[in-house]
Amino acid sequence: MRELCPSILSADFSKLGEEIKEVESYGIKSIHVDVMDGHFVPNLSIGQGVIKSIRKHSDSYFDVHLMIDNPEKYIDNFIDAGADGITFHIEVAGENVYELIDRIKSKGKKVGISVNPATELPSVEILKLIDVLLVMTVNPGFGGQKYISEVNDKINKARQLKQEYGLNYKIEVDGGINSDTIKEAVDAGAEIIVAGNAIFGQEDREKAIRELNGGING
Ligand code: DX5
Ligand code: ZN
Repeated sequence: MRELCPSILSADFSKLGEEIKEVESYGIKSIHVDVMDGHFVPNLSIGQGVIKSIRKHSDSYFDVHLMIDNPEKYIDNFIDAGADGITFHIEVAGENVYELIDRIKSKGKKVGISVNPATELPSVEILKLIDVLLVMTVNPGFGGQKYISEVNDKINKARQLKQEYGLNYKIEVDGGINSDTIKEAVDAGAEIIVAGNAIFGQEDREKAIRELNGGING
């Protein structure tokens, strides 16, 4: 089953609780939270304090995407703040990758690994251990960028590996999704589809979600 996951990066930060409740009223059950540190990506966004605050307003699944260096320093904080799933970038994990996976799992949370457009897929040995493979379809750091179609081959490869090895991870895509590009992402194999600007950047979020859901199921 495929699922749409709105990214609050494009929401109105002055009323995040209300923004989340609005999309939940249109059937959304999973919220994507982008954490940026100004080092791994050239932008800053939000931290664990904000997640703790919005947790009080929502029972949705919080899909926390850490675009930060040294994720090992912060994972526990984000879990304590209310994350349901933590995704870190393979580019910064180095030899810690197995330890990070274990830490997140040991706290009963879903573990995701993200790959930038220029990064190869992780090894099958790693893919066997994760719940989510987050394939970036833009270079991370900003909302509202253009979908990089060259990444479709990698999404497709991730789907083939899942079938070939009987693996359980969900393929998530993030960046540049709109009612046009969602089709190519889904055709390539995307199962969890993140959209920021195409939902929270729109006046009529109900219509935006309806159209994107049409692209997922149609
Ligand atoms: C990009 C973030 C995305 C972002 C997507 O660095 O990881 O989650 O919010 O935004 P859109 O859908 O606007 O490209
Ligand atoms: Zn993201």
